[in-house]
Amino acid sequence: MKAIAVAPGEKNSIHLRDIPKPSINEIAAGCGVLVRVLRVGVDATDKEINDAEYGAAPEGDDYLIIGHESFGVVEEIGENVERFSPGDYVAATVRRPGDSLYDRIGLSDMSSDEEYYERGINRLHGFLAEYFVESENNLAKVPGACRDVGVLMEPTSIVVKGIRQAFEIQRRMQIWQPKRAAVMGTGTLGLLATMILRLRDIDVVAFGLDQMPYKNGELVEQLGGRYFSVKDKTLGESKEQYGPYDLIFEATGNSGVAFEATEHLGKNGVLILTSITGGERKTEIPSDKINLEFVLGNKVMFGTVSSNLTHFQLAAKDLSHAVSQFPGWLNQLLTHPVKGLEEYETMIRLLESSNDAIKIFVEV
Ligand code: BGC
Ligand code: ZN
Repeated sequence: MKAIAVAPGEKNSIHLRDIPKPSINEIAAGCGVLVRVLRVGVDATDKEINDAEYGAAPEGDDYLIIGHESFGVVEEIGENVERFSPGDYVAATVRRPGDSLYDRIGLSDMSSDEEYYERGINRLHGFLAEYFVESENNLAKVPGACRDVGVLMEPTSIVVKGIRQAFEIQRRMQIWQPKRAAVMGTGTLGLLATMILRLRDIDVVAFGLDQMPYKNGELVEQLGGRYFSVKDKTLGESKEQYGPYDLIFEATGNSGVAFEATEHLGKNGVLILTSITGGERKTEIPSDKINLEFVLGNKVMFGTVSSNLTHFQLAAKDLSHAVSQFPGWLNQLLTHPVKGLEEYETMIRLLESSNDAIKIFVEV
């Protein structure tokens, strides 16, 4: 079968490869599920892997099949599979357990190991292929009503984890009812964060670079949120009118924005950092002021990465709610379909140069 692979460590090594079709017997204890891949989303991580800035091949292989945002249909199941039947739509989690205590209790997304295992990213092959096999323990069901937007499961799970962790942390407040949120960045994660916060009836002000008319800004408004270009209004300027912010979700990919946001968080507020910033940017910040306000205001800032099966299952619920509450909204995120695995060069070109793309995905 066909798959899209790279040679990790070698710049722009993306290529199409012929590999054996996997079998459910590769998974122990009759728990294997064979999934026919329908769509796979791609993001900046895939671009970085092809740029040889990130990613590692599985031990013993000199190539890595990429793709970590899966969506497919179950074709065959092992004899002990209980939760799935052929024909079910599914998405697979990305992280696999390492050795730390957290890995051992099923929270591999919270692994404290130095090196981790992630399908399509680090030391495990990914999903940009015609088929993959997985243990049923790493698969979440995608409701039929969400099949058109099922490829958004993985990014949604990332956002769900971040927001859920915020609520977990805020249990320290005994009664925390966030009313106003700011979302920094209106890429896929920022838009999905806006959606999830709006599903919880939280007021959202989202910020991006572009000025209206701007598709992503309109998408925010369709959810009943507000959109500002930072050229017109900064987070700080918005605070008087729309803040103080109980929650800020940072998803710009720019660490400077993350630290600017620390200055505009309300008392008892929580700032969620999701940007993976591989660069070497340095930012000057008023550290005394920020530190003082964090201390006197009992504020929290935390980082969040990856997600586990629980987050995927919650993502399926949120996607279902969004499909009924905001009909057609999620479909608008699927801006750039790539027709077939053979079109891997188009896929990379879009990742490198398409400014108006929200979600680029391969129709396998
Ligand atoms: C993926 C996450 C992963 C992270 C770090 C992101 O692009 O969506 O699942 O944990 O990269 O490798
Ligand atoms: Zn990703």
